Amino acid sequence: MADALPVTVEVGVIGAGAMGAGIAQIAAQAGHRVHLFDNRMGAADQAKLRIAETLAALAAKGKFTPEAAVAAAARIVPVHALGAFVSAGLVVEAIVEDADVKRKLLRELEVVVPPETILASNTSSLSITALAAGLKHPGRVVGMHFFNPAPVLPLVEVVSGLATDAATADVVYATAAAWGKKPVHATSTPGFIVNRCARPFYAEALALLTERAADAATIDAVLREAGAFRMGAFELMDLIGHDVNLAVTKSVWEAYFHDPRYRPSVLQQERVAAGYLGRKSGQGIYAYGADAEKPLPRTEPVQPRPARVAAAGAHPMTVGLRERLAGAGFAVAAGAPVGALASGHLDVDGALLVPSDGRTATAVALACGRPDVVVFDLAHDYGRCTRLAIAAADGCADAAVAAATGALQAAGIAVSRLDDVAGLVVMRTVAMLANEAADAATQGIANPRDIDTAMVNGVNYPRGPLAWADAIGVAHVAAVLENMAAHYGDGRYRTSPLVTRRCATGGRLAD
Ligand code: NAI
Repeated sequence: MADALPVTVEVGVIGAGAMGAGIAQIAAQAGHRVHLFDNRMGAADQAKLRIAETLAALAAKGKFTPEAAVAAAARIVPVHALGAFVSAGLVVEAIVEDADVKRKLLRELEVVVPPETILASNTSSLSITALAAGLKHPGRVVGMHFFNPAPVLPLVEVVSGLATDAATADVVYATAAAWGKKPVHATSTPGFIVNRCARPFYAEALALLTERAADAATIDAVLREAGAFRMGAFELMDLIGHDVNLAVTKSVWEAYFHDPRYRPSVLQQERVAAGYLGRKSGQGIYAYGADAEKPLPRTEPVQPRPARVAAAGAHPMTVGLRERLAGAGFAVAAGAPVGALASGHLDVDGALLVPSDGRTATAVALACGRPDVVVFDLAHDYGRCTRLAIAAADGCADAAVAAATGALQAAGIAVSRLDDVAGLVVMRTVAMLANEAADAATQGIANPRDIDTAMVNGVNYPRGPLAWADAIGVAHVAAVLENMAAHYGDGRYRTSPLVTRRCATGGRLAD
């Protein structure tokens, strides 16, 4: 394990925009003297003023002393030529996201700095291998990918290109950790860890909306209230901007030679074409502005409390819901197993309440020869979720849907009934997030622990996708993927080799 750069080492930051200013602030707070350069006249000076204000505001909130804030701001020195980086031990560039411009800058820097100075790029999408190619010392070029806002979000992806020296990546990793960040190692591949592994969060929501399984507000509410995601996928896309979100999806899709896994959404493309970019344009999936009303999720009307509940099977989803119903005062009897329902089921006044395994409720009903089938979605925690998505089989009696709904409502769970879509909302999202993370691990982009760390710290997921899949059961996740692949006939849902392997051996994905 390499040592972090001592605080006596000077740090250079190039680009004093949103990211560069944040990185300069972090390095200065850690004790480094920071030289800050921007080719736009006055930008570095303005950034220093903004950083000093931010630090003063943080001191006023009691995060540190006013003296510490003043001292950190004083360590930032705006400079007006690259020559000022001659004594820097680490230079981080956060200039415009353009490969040619970044390469030109690195070539110019090489002439100025000594050979041992580490040259780091904050690029979120460009190949570190390509940026370093043709330099005299490509081994010292590394990705140091912060997330926005850099002083707030803990994750730093330390990205190694083909030529990056392991020692360089290790020093940057240790330095990010010394700066109070959560670094992870990644190899230079499209989207690195987070921007690649998060694609299914958006893609599955867009696919559900395209298929008209539910409206956006309902899908978002289910992701938040059952999935425990901080924001719904559409709320998040509106915040990021659909133009930016679509551009990242397209760049990963193109970089992987049109792999259907990353296929962009026509529905999103239409929004972008219309100028419905999200919050910044006043209209995205939702409308913004003074008189805009946020649509409510679809919630079933209250149904009577059913008389009888029985449960069969030991699958975590079945057990989780059984315990929630038991907590609501149902005397849950032992139910007889049904052959086609490997993950068990609950029997509510004769209706079968079945955990989603990636099949539609109609397909489950046909497989078990019972018409009254209601499939329920995955919850992050059945003991605490406030909403759950369900879907009923074609031909399921209204009384059966009412019984299933009434049982969930009696336990304090709002019910959103979707069209009979395969994999519902949270189940298909988590299965695809875990599948993507498993592929990234298979390809050596990062180790499983780092992938989970990245997703929790970079995009605030309630749990790392691999650990989440382990909690659901890898075999169940594999079944979801296989059933969805069969349902859609789409290579997008093909199972990652690591999922197949762990499923065969009973091993865990997150280890
Ligand atoms: P920005 O547009 O806010 O700032 C870029 C700054 O670089 C501007 O002040 C510009 O004047 C300056 N600049 C441009 N070309 C230059 C050059 N040749 N020499 C010196 N200065 C130059 O951009 P932002 O958002 O800070 O992004 C910077 C980098 O960070 C990009 O590579 C971007 O992909 C990456 N990034 C951005 C994130 C975000 O959410 N904004 C998140 C993570 C990475």
